[in-house]
Amino acid sequence: MTDLTMDELTSLCKRRGFVFQSSEIYGGLAGFWDYGPYGVELANNLKKVWWQSVVRSNPEIYGLDSAIIQNPKLWQASGHVDGFTDPLVDCKNCGARLRADHLAGTDSTDLSELTAILQDHACPVCGKKTFTKPRYYNMMMKTWVGPIEDDASVAYLRPETAGSIFTNYENVRETTRSKIPFGIGQVGKAFRNEISPRDFIFRVRELEQMEMQYFINPKTQDKFYSRWRDFAWNFLIDTIGISEDSLHWHEHDEKERAHYAATAHDIYFKFPQGFKELWGTHNRTDFDLSNHMRVSGKDLSYYDDQTQERFTPYVIESSVGVGRMFIAALVDAYDEDEVNGEKRVVLRLHKNIAPVRVAILPLSKKEPLMKLSHDVYVLLIKSLDWNIEYDETQSIGKRYRRQDEIGTPQCITIDFASLDDHSVTIRDRDSTEQRRVKIDDLINTLQKD
Ligand code: GAP
Repeated sequence: MTDLTMDELTSLCKRRGFVFQSSEIYGGLAGFWDYGPYGVELANNLKKVWWQSVVRSNPEIYGLDSAIIQNPKLWQASGHVDGFTDPLVDCKNCGARLRADHLAGTDSTDLSELTAILQDHACPVCGKKTFTKPRYYNMMMKTWVGPIEDDASVAYLRPETAGSIFTNYENVRETTRSKIPFGIGQVGKAFRNEISPRDFIFRVRELEQMEMQYFINPKTQDKFYSRWRDFAWNFLIDTIGISEDSLHWHEHDEKERAHYAATAHDIYFKFPQGFKELWGTHNRTDFDLSNHMRVSGKDLSYYDDQTQERFTPYVIESSVGVGRMFIAALVDAYDEDEVNGEKRVVLRLHKNIAPVRVAILPLSKKEPLMKLSHDVYVLLIKSLDWNIEYDETQSIGKRYRRQDEIGTPQCITIDFASLDDHSVTIRDRDSTEQRRVKIDDLINTLQKD
């Protein structure tokens, strides 16, 4: 791994088609980004391996894909309309509006503490010390449903995917005939009107989350809290190949915790701007279900036949942003080394998530090599559920460099000898070693690697 600044990462992502500024030709829009051809493959792979590990590998966990806009009462009951806030200050001199806790360099969002720290702070934009007192600002994104834009038609774009998991808790439990403990996982967009979106796709206004709520008997909270903390840690290391040295735990203190969480542990990753939150595990207790029972009037309590107890389930939540996992995977995989005296940039991405799993590179555009190369390509796309690229442009050296820079684990070259020996060469991204394999054994060999 070689260190990378956020500017270097942003430029690599643009140069190689991972991420573009949204509506770039109009100057972009702060906090919104578009995923390009390789970015969408990498993000889809992250979501796929998460879904496989969380929803499909656990018989008691089910999937959900809910609407982004829900009845606004959901967000009143969940406390988001009143409590989903961040502290902000305005500079009286230049009008800059800034996150007070970021400016103060603290994780605390306590207003009196921030007022004290910021007393002597200068505005990073104009240098004057003329801030307003910190105050809370609500991050919910609003819209209007229907043709009339008035208070009665206000609705919110969900700030977290979790909200509709709580309101579907009883639907899922009943239709799957589940007993507690069981879980519901969801992957989807969420929206937050962040005061100062920044650091590329680290803090954005339109984000994607992978969340799972695990409904439990309150007496088992410690056991399941540990289980889902361990899961997050092991997933990052084993499934997507992040190195353990780039991770550490951070426990939220009282002043830092979200309004719904009794305990919260984040995995921090060594992002280019320092160690920051990547993945949260929270004990949300019965906060959400109790509030939904109170506001909706529906009984969401659970009767356990075996212990003959009635209780409102507690929820252990596992929540991670796709964009932050995307940066973590790229930063951790980024490396620079030398091959035959030439410098190269290489993304040592785990093969589970590499945007292109295999590239087919014919050594010549002449027939009958083209036909054979195309046949090999068709064989692979028909047999393997992978993204496979076919590239016949430029010299082979340039094509290898390009595939190294987007993290393709294996390249297959087809040369004139292939016409006689019905074999191709597989070149390994990390070691650059090459080996000859019969076309008849190619699928098996690639699957085993
Ligand atoms: N349901 C709980 C929840 O939403 P959170 O800590 O606010 O908790 C969970 O967010 C995860 O979503 C974070 O750990 C982070 O990975 C990601 N995330 C949150 N806000 C984000 C933002 N503005 N931009 C990008 N990712 C964000």
